[in-house]
Amino acid sequence: MTNVATVTVENGIGILSIDSPPVNALGIAVRRGIDEGFKQLAADNAVKAIVLICGGRTFFAGADITEFGKPPQSPGLHDVCKLIEDSAKPVVAAIHGTALGGGLELALNCHYRVAAPSAKVGLPEVALGLLPGAGGTQRLPRLVGVERALDLITSGRQMNAKDALETGVLDALTEEGQLRRDAIAFTQQVVVDNKPLKRVRDRDEKVAAYRGNTQVFADFRKSNARAFRGYKAPENIIKCIEAAVELPFDAGMKRERELFLELVTSTESAAQRYAFFAERETAKIPDVPADTPTLPIKSVGVIGAGTMGGGIAMNFLNAGIPVTLVEVRQEALDRGLSVIRRNYESTAKKGRITQADVEKRMGLLTPALDLAALKDADLIIEAVFESMPIKKEIFAKLDGIAKPGALLASNTSYLNIDEIASATTRPEHVLGLHFFSPANVMRLLEVVRGEKTDRSVIATGMKLAKTIGKVPVLSRVCHGFIANRLMNPRGREANALVLRGPTPQQIDTAIYNYGFAMGPFQMGDLVGLDVIGRDSTERTVRGDLVALGRLGQKQGGGFYDYDENRNATPSPVAAQVIADFARDHQIQQIGVLSEEEIVARLLYPVVNEGAKILEEGIALRGSDVDVAAMMGYNWPVYTGGPMFWADTVGLDKIVAKLRAFEAEGGEAFAPAPLLVKLAAEGKRLSQVGAK
Ligand code: 3HC
Repeated sequence: MTNVATVTVENGIGILSIDSPPVNALGIAVRRGIDEGFKQLAADNAVKAIVLICGGRTFFAGADITEFGKPPQSPGLHDVCKLIEDSAKPVVAAIHGTALGGGLELALNCHYRVAAPSAKVGLPEVALGLLPGAGGTQRLPRLVGVERALDLITSGRQMNAKDALETGVLDALTEEGQLRRDAIAFTQQVVVDNKPLKRVRDRDEKVAAYRGNTQVFADFRKSNARAFRGYKAPENIIKCIEAAVELPFDAGMKRERELFLELVTSTESAAQRYAFFAERETAKIPDVPADTPTLPIKSVGVIGAGTMGGGIAMNFLNAGIPVTLVEVRQEALDRGLSVIRRNYESTAKKGRITQADVEKRMGLLTPALDLAALKDADLIIEAVFESMPIKKEIFAKLDGIAKPGALLASNTSYLNIDEIASATTRPEHVLGLHFFSPANVMRLLEVVRGEKTDRSVIATGMKLAKTIGKVPVLSRVCHGFIANRLMNPRGREANALVLRGPTPQQIDTAIYNYGFAMGPFQMGDLVGLDVIGRDSTERTVRGDLVALGRLGQKQGGGFYDYDENRNATPSPVAAQVIADFARDHQIQQIGVLSEEEIVARLLYPVVNEGAKILEEGIALRGSDVDVAAMMGYNWPVYTGGPMFWADTVGLDKIVAKLRAFEAEGGEAFAPAPLLVKLAAEGKRLSQVGAK
């Protein structure tokens, strides 16, 4: 017997227990364990029925993602599924933790499923650019119906045990903490009652009801077109569920196989699988080992009740951590508080939290007008506007107020953390915690490590990020840290290019079609051209538009004109402003460019900046840069982020293009030495710093 499987027999019930930390992924060792253990129990005449259960923190969390793209090893997941489904003895899955992907599919091959009340089930393959490839797309609709299956599989959402019971995915819930005992009892009852071998594949009524109904799929495609844009997996999932409805079971399985293989070999899925591991890798810091002591964070102070400060505070309130919010003026404080309340009320209206949750969260919030109110806080985050003298003044004051050992953080986007820390006598407790707007939504949290920041402070920042549902990326100090610095060239080059002939809409379309939610000019109009251009002293197109009263969507239009429903159309006025500016500055025109060329001019410089960030040691690894772009700027995940994407394009091609752009007089395009080196050596940007 393989060491992951344990087989025991209790009163005629065979128990096959699998324990393969951390999450019982269905890799080859686990599949062998199931195969051998199951065959042993099947051959044992004393065994009347079998319980399949897992040790550790969860039931099988799915196929082993690291095996995709490698040569298949026998037995495959399909083989073990078939073994169980074809069993002459009833097999009962006993689920705790999360039965996900291949794990749930395996359970759907069992004849019955019981679960702990805290368990969750789901088919999250879509997040990896895949579809459930072990029969999930054929079996789940047979249990829960077509509409629910479409929703569950294309969203990858987890279902709690109660809902799973109600929808027919589960047959019974056990007592919490008594899964093994209750699953055995359930199985004994199956034997005593001589219950049938219920095979999900044989159930037809829920799919038969939709046979010939093409409308349900057409509607689903239409209403989700925006969310699915650019991703391959959702469409293949829909096709599989269509097959589940229209084809006999085995033919549906064959179709699922074809559509799965199409995905597993796609660049999109490779990128999404890479992103899955990249997200988990960021917390690993070579000189801050996992056992580095952390400081308990039981109360937080936030300075500044503006959009950023309020959003930051919400993260902690959501996690049940009390926050003291400090502002200088009562009016600003009141406004900040009411925005937070309004945000919660609107979430409650959408049914995502209850009114009681709103009150509970607001109850954890203490407003204050004096920094002295922060004397007991374990962590203080300063989120006032970007002014070094003001930040230094605040940190100097905090030094005299904060209790010993408290973490002193700045949410600065660009300023030097070391200089801010120098205003205190405890720079080892100072760090950057850089949130992305909207701070209660965006998942990236840059943890900025100053020259003197203590390891335990960094470890605490990384851990805290997880507590509040963020993905932490460690950054060293530089202007803009990782994400803002990385993405800055995109805006810079868009502004330069629009003066050379391509229109705002051509540039925006190219960026939109690449996979971003909107292009740089649409974004500018949305945020407000007066807001973005505020700090600029030079003449800019933005400034010229603002001078004409064109502030963006909110007033007068901006790069676009807007109707009363905020639909954008190209603006002749903006076109004239751009043309005048180009003429005044004698900017050479470039003519019409393809989308590919526009993308290269805007995004290759981002790749180049990423290489600089890596060669300067600002980011630890290429995949951290990608996580920052995906989580902080919604860089499309199916490209894997700028570093992974660059690898798929070919670094040599990117270097050649950058050199060509540089030769036109664009010194900013000069390729980074690291990029040139990696291209010459045939190495990958996304692998820089990888273990
Ligand atoms: N394969 C390989 N490794 C996996 C894995 C998987 N399916 N799921 C998790 N891991 C690894 C993680 O990389 C991590 O490794 P590390 O410690 O070296 O960084 C470790 O297990 C723990 O994972 P998390 O840090 O994510 O632990 P959490 O407790 O936060 O979450 C979880 C647990 C909810 C199970 C989460 O890991 C998860 O969502 N896993 C992926 C589930 C999934 O996508 N399953 C579908 C796989 S594809 C499939 O089944 C195809 C089939 O249809 C044919």
